[in-house]
Amino acid sequence: MNSNRASSIEQPHIIDGVAAASNVVESIKAKVQAEKLRPGLAVVLVGRDPASSVYVRNKKRRAEECGFLSRQYDLPEATREVELLALIRDLNQDPEIHGILVQLPLPPQINPNAVIEAIAPNKDVDGFHYSNAGRLGTGDIEQAMVPCTPLGCLHLLKQVLGDGLRGKHAVVIGRSNIVGKPMANLLMHNDCTVTIVHSRTVEPQNICRQADIVVAAVGIPKLVKADWIKEGAVAIDVGINRVTRTNGESGLVGDIDCDNVLPLTTAITPVPGGVGPMTIAMLMLNTLNAAARSNRLAATLTV
Ligand code: GUN
Repeated sequence: MNSNRASSIEQPHIIDGVAAASNVVESIKAKVQAEKLRPGLAVVLVGRDPASSVYVRNKKRRAEECGFLSRQYDLPEATREVELLALIRDLNQDPEIHGILVQLPLPPQINPNAVIEAIAPNKDVDGFHYSNAGRLGTGDIEQAMVPCTPLGCLHLLKQVLGDGLRGKHAVVIGRSNIVGKPMANLLMHNDCTVTIVHSRTVEPQNICRQADIVVAAVGIPKLVKADWIKEGAVAIDVGINRVTRTNGESGLVGDIDCDNVLPLTTAITPVPGGVGPMTIAMLMLNTLNAAARSNRLAATLTV
């Protein structure tokens, strides 16, 4: 499909998120050693959701690798909201802890908004608290904690485009508070012209086809087809969708139909191995920056 269009552009580049994440982690380790910092990350897991348990284990492993103090709190599925809020209050006061992450989703008896708002904004390494969302939205990026996935996407885009984000038309597919909206704000902060398309957008493919940069974050397997993509665009795939293949095996695919989109792009992230590893690396970066700020040191990497 579209082989004529593909033949006129350079060989597309598959962005290696594993290598990019490991570069970030190396620079974090170096900073921790040079500044003799001991950033502390507390990760709270309520219940036994298998996917959440894997994510939490990976975060713990990465934190230890970075030389952080890493604490994990495993709470039972039946934990009441007041109990979780009490733990957060303690962690807010704990001088050894610079970052607090409560793994989502939470069981139905707990209101996630109440939990997020209970975390001290300067320890909110997820960047989900209203005050961090507000700082990002108003361009006060230096003081904001920025959500990890959009921050990881931005790092990958800068790796490909350098200063070339200025004036580019970026289309963000998806309007979630965790990815779509902060991604749009970050891109605007980096001088892109930004359009958000979502489930109610009329003919999203026509808007997307005008984009120099596409960030797909909707959780619909292979939604973005080749006819959504302008030749030479850079495509970032945030989707991680578990699918059953025709041979009966289960596997992961993104929101972008990578096989067919790849030949049209300048660069594209794969799934897995693209954005996913960067999300955890950015969590480490936010934790380091939180610790640095609490020691009145400059933040390490800024956006
Ligand atoms: N569950 C899935 N992704 C995330 C994330 O980035 N942060 C938290 N706290 N929970 C999640």
